[in-house]
Amino acid sequence: MLRTLPLIALAAYASAQTLPSISETCTNTLKSIALNADVAACLNPVALISLISGNSSTAITPAVDNWLTGLCAAPACSNATITSVVSNVTAGCSTELSTEGVSAENNAQISALIQQYYPTVRSIACLKEGSSFCVTKELEAFETAVGQTLSLDTIAALILNPPTSLSSNVTCTNCVKEAYNIIKKDIPSAASLVDESSITEECGASFVDGSTPSGITQSAVSTTQGATGSSGGNGALSLSSGAFVTFSSVVSSALFIALA
Ligand SMILES: *[C@@H]1O[C@H](CO)[C@@H](O)[C@H](O)[C@H]1NC(C)=O
Ligand SMILES: *[C@@H]1O[C@H](CO)[C@@H](O)[C@H](O)[C@H]1NC(C)=O
Ligand SMILES: *[C@@H]1O[C@H](CO)[C@@H](O)[C@H](O)[C@H]1NC(C)=O
Ligand SMILES: *[C@@H]1O[C@H](CO)[C@@H](O)[C@H](O)[C@H]1NC(C)=O
Repeated sequence: MLRTLPLIALAAYASAQTLPSISETCTNTLKSIALNADVAACLNPVALISLISGNSSTAITPAVDNWLTGLCAAPACSNATITSVVSNVTAGCSTELSTEGVSAENNAQISALIQQYYPTVRSIACLKEGSSFCVTKELEAFETAVGQTLSLDTIAALILNPPTSLSSNVTCTNCVKEAYNIIKKDIPSAASLVDESSITEECGASFVDGSTPSGITQSAVSTTQGATGSSGGNGALSLSSGAFVTFSSVVSSALFIALA
């Protein structure tokens, strides 16, 4: 699992760049969401514009680092902001989503899922080792391992011709260990799918001992925007994971196109 995760992330990013035929209505919805004050205040979307407006050889890692610097210093999105984003996307991108069986009827479930997993994703994204973001360090280690700077061009080439294995310099780092600790604590059901003996074989027994490695810190600001009380989810998590993945990929695709 540890070997494939970075490639899955890169493949998702690259497919978001190439996915065709997003309607103008959807694009405009995404644009307005990126410019929405609440969204701008918690997700720092503007910092990604350099990446999106660049060309296919623009380096990705520095843009991601810059984006995280703003994101982690900003308060977390409120559940109300998440709900508002989801309902506007399902309305504005209904054509794109309906072909995959996702409709406004799924709003509550999609919002609840994002509300549930967003804090975990945010805390992993904002881990630091020393003064550097773990995500940045991992991207740089990956670049060293494959001998290439990540850009759309090099990612496309890597997807066609993926490295057969990744150095433990990429997979068994203190950063990845702490990310695993967070997932295990927040989403025990996901962690229970992982065969720890294979991790131990690759990274050693201490990798799964649950302790936070020294030098690893959480940089995310602990406040949540506009804490105006609960807009809590309904816990009805019956949406198929396929629909959720569809929703996420349409949103990320459209976001890239919208901001371009
Ligand atoms: C969603 O749409 C409503 C109505 O147009 C707007 O008031 C609100 O700001 C939008 N929310 C986001 C997050 O863009
Ligand atoms: C991509 O943009 C950079 C500047 O950011 C420029 O130096 C380079 O020549 C461009 N490459 C292509 C293939 O257009
Ligand atoms: C792993 O990192 C160490 C120290 O930075 C370096 O000496 C070694 O060459 C790296 N190994 C691989 C396979 O990249
Ligand atoms: C947001 O909703 C989730 C579940 O839907 C809940 O666990 C969490 O406490 C809520 N967060 C806030 C800040 O209200």
